[in-house]
Amino acid sequence: MVVKNDNRIELLRKIKDEVVGLKESFLCQERIKNGVFPVLGEGNHYAEIMFIGEAPGKNEVATGRPFCGASGRVLDELLAHISLDRKNVYVTNIVKDRPPLNRDPRQEEIDLYASFLDRQISVIQPKVIVALGRFSMEYLMKRFGLKNELDSIGKIHGRKFEMKTDYGTAKFIPLYHPAVALYNAKEKDTLKKDFEVLII
Ligand code: URA
Repeated sequence: MVVKNDNRIELLRKIKDEVVGLKESFLCQERIKNGVFPVLGEGNHYAEIMFIGEAPGKNEVATGRPFCGASGRVLDELLAHISLDRKNVYVTNIVKDRPPLNRDPRQEEIDLYASFLDRQISVIQPKVIVALGRFSMEYLMKRFGLKNELDSIGKIHGRKFEMKTDYGTAKFIPLYHPAVALYNAKEKDTLKKDFEVLII
């Protein structure tokens, strides 16, 4: 393993500490009330590919790990399909605490957590940023200069875009959320095909 002499661990730990310290908003209070964890992200701090989902679910907040439940099993299968080892990528979400009953995140919740995601991206500096689902797709495209290209995920899933970040240009690829394959087996084939764009 290449050990690089920078302070990514500390910077990521600081982001985590700040999220843990959030106490005011509804989702944070739910986390405290339920005695569960925020989910910051996991994987290689030098990953070339970063996957960004929506928000943690029940299993994720019980363990503090992203995509470790049913959607995570689909994600693992999709990564295996393109022979990508999960240890070599970084996986996170926009929203770091669980919306009750897995409802969609609200705009104010996305706004609250988005700056933490922005900082994770700046620290890890991935060459390829993959949005899993429409919430992260919309946020990232608006945030990184692709507002004019934004369309429904049904139209632009699997397409490659160029995104301008504070560390240079990165590729951006919106994909369906892995959960769609749980409800519609045909969509798993679409996801598998889309994941093939990640084969370098
Ligand atoms: N769905 C997400 O978007 N993220 C997770 O971590 C789990 C399920």
